Amino acid sequence: MKGVILAGGLGSRLRPLTLVTNKHLLPIYDRPMVFYPIECLVNAGIREILLVTGGDHAGDFLKVLRNGKHLGVQHLEYAYQEGEGGIADALKLAEDFAENQKVCVVLGDNIIEGNIARAAGEFFAQRSGAKVLLKEVHDPQRFGVARFDGQGEDQRIAEIIEKPENPPSGYAVTGFYFYDHDVFDVCRTLKPSKRGELEITDVNNYYLKRGDMTHNTLDGWWTDAGTFESLYRANRLVAEGGANHLDLKAPRERVAVAGR
Ligand code: G1P
Repeated sequence: MKGVILAGGLGSRLRPLTLVTNKHLLPIYDRPMVFYPIECLVNAGIREILLVTGGDHAGDFLKVLRNGKHLGVQHLEYAYQEGEGGIADALKLAEDFAENQKVCVVLGDNIIEGNIARAAGEFFAQRSGAKVLLKEVHDPQRFGVARFDGQGEDQRIAEIIEKPENPPSGYAVTGFYFYDHDVFDVCRTLKPSKRGELEITDVNNYYLKRGDMTHNTLDGWWTDAGTFESLYRANRLVAEGGANHLDLKAPRERVAVAGR
């Protein structure tokens, strides 16, 4: 399984900070934002990574990440997304890199306290389809939100609704996604949403309709960092400790998911 980090966009909600560099290189406590998703993938044994970026500051990534070896990455590639086509549009650029393998896609501004090793191991064993990671939040209107069918152990996601005015649950779909290789065919069929983007939620709803999606719930805190409020929260959560990432030398849970 390979890793794809989506770190494009203009970061317009974080101007003027993003006039000088890409959003995903802004500091979260003691390191650039993009280090966290990279470490998350590496901790899960996913060490071949494609970083998709865009905008005016794409070159800044090379200065910080180089070939990624210092972060435990075995192979780091870069792709450049023209324009603002959305998450699923950026994902299209990963097709050749994926080489028919499964992919773990991470939004570059999502930071978690725990890790995705168990989910990655489970998805590696999953025959086909997709997996999303959910987290209960107090402000679901800001995210893709799961509507559930069934009760208890039979509970399944029936549908995901992007930024609903009246959320059907408090469970947000986080920016950690696992897909089989069909995802690239799915991306080709998408039409732009009202905000003019190809939505990852449309990709996820395709897999739900196909009856081929599993989900896990994330342990520990989760935050994005794309607004001043969430950027501040991410800094505070990491600085106050608890994030695995803080000690680079700490032993890490690794799961053998690097192969096909
Ligand atoms: C995106 C997705 C949304 C998801 C969120 C997680 O939102 O569209 O479904 O819940 O990332 O961070 P965006 O950051 O594009 O508003």
